[in-house]
Amino acid sequence: MPPAAAPDAIAESLLAFWAEAGVDAMLLDEPVDRIAAGRIAPPKPVERKTSAAAPGPRRAAQPDVSAAVALARELAAGADSLEALAAAIAAFDGCPLKFEGASQAVVWRGDPHAPLLVIGEAPGADEDHQGQPFVGRAGQMLDRMLAAAGLSERVLITNTVFWRPPGNRTPTPAEQAVCAPFVERAIALAQPKMLLLVGGASAKALLKTEEGILTLRGRWRDWRSADGAVALPALPTLHPAFLLRQPAAKKQAWTDLLTLTERLDRPERPS
Ligand code: URA
Repeated sequence: MPPAAAPDAIAESLLAFWAEAGVDAMLLDEPVDRIAAGRIAPPKPVERKTSAAAPGPRRAAQPDVSAAVALARELAAGADSLEALAAAIAAFDGCPLKFEGASQAVVWRGDPHAPLLVIGEAPGADEDHQGQPFVGRAGQMLDRMLAAAGLSERVLITNTVFWRPPGNRTPTPAEQAVCAPFVERAIALAQPKMLLLVGGASAKALLKTEEGILTLRGRWRDWRSADGAVALPALPTLHPAFLLRQPAAKKQAWTDLLTLTERLDRPERPS
């Protein structure tokens, strides 16, 4: 009988086997509430007063989504220009993403009076670095598509959230809800004729639906403001990052852009 291996050697060999197989994280069968266990400090509550003029200490964002949404709504309503709105967003501490590694707020780029507002998902690493939405590989793809459709000079481009989610993960519905009053105020101030909703995370959040992007894309929907007072035509389409991974889907995205330009250039009927 071969001599029994030492427990350390068995553990080492087992770990090497798992590492080889690509396992680089260990999870338990049951979730552990580390906040309750005192291993992680609970997030501090949001500060109600937020002022760009008097920057206080940076505070951890809080879990009370409705308080953060109410504060976002209050700040957004007080902004009477896109510049003022951008400043309000930058000073807002209610979105947890601001405290999860983002280096700055990323708001919008393009023509503030454009007839088309493009709404993507969230800033990525390049956007976080440069402070502008859609400037990385996906952004370059978006720019090429807009240029091919003759839309380069006719767009304002933003996202559903204004801070980069860690690891470029999809923003959560709560993070999107907290930023939504600012998105809505941007729509009210820019007064576009229509919206292009880029990717599932954008389309689902703006249209308040659980339908997937492959079902939603290419079909006009009505976007409505939270109070229902404003409605705009909104067209969901595929995200350029998806097109980079699935070039065969470019045809569908191109069809969507043609659908969009046809409506954008359609002469308005006298009312
Ligand atoms: N993807 C997005 O959805 N938005 C950006 O700004 C960049 C990449």
